[in-house]
Amino acid sequence: MPARHLRLYVNIDHVATLRQARGGIEPSPLEAMQICEAAGADGITVHLREDRRHIQDADVEKLATSITTFFNFEMACVDEMIDLALRIKPSQVTLVPEKREEVTTEGGLDVVRESARVERAIARLKNDGIEVSLFIDPDPDAIKMARKLGAHAFEMHTGDYANHPNDKSTLGALVEGAKIGAGEGLSVYAGHGLTVGNVGPVAAIPEVTELNIGHSIVSRSIFVGLTQAIHEMRKAMDAARRSVEI
Ligand code: PXP
Repeated sequence: MPARHLRLYVNIDHVATLRQARGGIEPSPLEAMQICEAAGADGITVHLREDRRHIQDADVEKLATSITTFFNFEMACVDEMIDLALRIKPSQVTLVPEKREEVTTEGGLDVVRESARVERAIARLKNDGIEVSLFIDPDPDAIKMARKLGAHAFEMHTGDYANHPNDKSTLGALVEGAKIGAGEGLSVYAGHGLTVGNVGPVAAIPEVTELNIGHSIVSRSIFVGLTQAIHEMRKAMDAARRSVEI
């Protein structure tokens, strides 16, 4: 049964981006996390990139021990990160592809080509009670593979939809992908490039139960503050959710 409440996980990577621009201590991701939680975020997401361009190891340690909601730790499928996850024990790991030269995570994980590596990582994490979600494109073969490899969930990459808002096929792929995933017994999440302006149609997909949103919320917070930015996103998500029969 699809959930009416759509969870909002706020990705606070770019709070750290701003801090790293000066190499000091402001703004603090820890303080950002606390504000997000007080403003009603259901969870917090960070991506510790291999090049450490924004979030640092010390941030992850602090966030993991202070969080009061759910900690979604995004990471590449490599031993260094798996070892760290096993130590800090986030509520959930999201495995993402990573290329050093990219500006952001440009596409989903290639779970078909990398199946052996991903399967081993999932087994290690699940063995320690950590749930694993895979960040993949809304591609039927990838979604079916996610279940075969032992993931409990997958997050559909919404970048294509966000970049081509007038191309109906991009939303169609997300709607279809959500149905296939739920049919496989997986939890269905979505994220990347979502804004107050484009979140509605994704939030209205009944099978989707969690959104991961970062850049647009942190950007908006510069003008109105983090609390208000989260409330605006929450309102847009709830309005879309109310408009569909769930
Ligand atoms: N989900 C995943 C797996 C991501 O890698 C990112 C970007 O780091 C996001 C969601 C959030 O994307 P955005 O910052 O564009 O909202």
